[in-house]
Amino acid sequence: MRGILLAGGTGSRLWPVTKAISKQLVPVFDKPMIFYPLSTLISIGVREILIITTPEDREAFRRLLGDGTQWGLRLEYAVQLRPEGIAQAFLIGEEFLDGRNSALILGDNLFHGTDFGRWSRPGTEVVGGHIFAWPVPNPSAYGVVEFDATGRVLSIEEKPAQPRSRYAVPGLYFYDAEVVKIARGLQPSARGELEITAVNAHYLRERMLRATVLDRGSVWLDTGTVADMARAGEYVRVVEERQGCKIGCVEEAAWRAGLIGDAQLRELARPLLNSGYGEYLLRLLD
Ligand code: TTP
Repeated sequence: MRGILLAGGTGSRLWPVTKAISKQLVPVFDKPMIFYPLSTLISIGVREILIITTPEDREAFRRLLGDGTQWGLRLEYAVQLRPEGIAQAFLIGEEFLDGRNSALILGDNLFHGTDFGRWSRPGTEVVGGHIFAWPVPNPSAYGVVEFDATGRVLSIEEKPAQPRSRYAVPGLYFYDAEVVKIARGLQPSARGELEITAVNAHYLRERMLRATVLDRGSVWLDTGTVADMARAGEYVRVVEERQGCKIGCVEEAAWRAGLIGDAQLRELARPLLNSGYGEYLLRLLD
C-alpha cells in the first residue's frame, strides 16, 4: 500500500497565520503539523509516501522532510496547482500509486491513541473503500456517514444541513486501485472541488464502502480553525508533559517500526539537542 499525504489547501480559516506559509508547516505545540499525519502513516505500515503541496510551499516541505531516507522512508513530492479538492490527490498521484492500493491522509488531521496505527491498519487487502467514523457534536461541518451494525455504509453526505447521523468522517481513507478511475470520473461540486465524499458515494453505490468507528481510546483532532489549532496544541502539550511520550514524533515512529536502528536515531537526535526534542530521542534509547 502506498500513501498520499495531502498538504496543500488555502488555510483561509487561519489567515493571517497561513497567508505566507502552509498550514501544515505551522507548529502544533513542539513540531510542524505535518509530523502528526506522517507519523500516523508510518505507524500504519506505509513506507512510500507522496506529499502533495502547493507550488509555493514545496521547497519548504522538502527542506523539512527530505527524501525520507533518514527515516527509512521513500518520500516523493508533487504539487496541486489550485486547491481543487481532496479527491484530486488521486489524479495527481496516479503515477506514484502505479496501480496499488492507497492510504490517503489529510495534512491537518491528528490521530492519537494506544496502538492507533496497528489498530487502524486494514487487516487484509483493501477491497473497495474503507473509512472511519467518529461522533461529533456538530456533524454538519463534516462529511457525515450513516452505517449499520456490521459497518456497511448506508449513506454519506458532505456537510449536510440535516445530518442523518452524528458520525463525521475523519481524514484517513483506504482505497483499492479503482480509486484513480473513480476520481477521474468525478465532476467538480457546486464549490468547485473534486469531493472525497463523491469518491466514497461511488463506492457506496457499488456496495463496497465500509466504515469503522474509531477505537474508543482514540482521539481525532483537526486543526482547521484558530480554536482547533489551539486545542490540538494544548492536547499535545498536556499529554506529552504528563505521559512523557511525544505524539507525532516521526523519528520515534520510524524507530519503533524498525525502519531505523539505534545508531541512526542517535544521529538524528544530534542537531535537535537545543530544543529538547533531541534529548527526548536519546532518552528512548535508555
Ligand atoms: P480544508 O480544511 O478543507 O481546506 P484548507 O486547508 O484549504 O483550509 P480553509 O478551508 O481554511 O481555506 O482542507 C483539509 C485538508 O486537505 C488540509 O490539510 C488541506 C488539504 N487540501 C488540499 O491539500 N487540497 C485541496 O484542494 C483541499 C480542498 C484540501
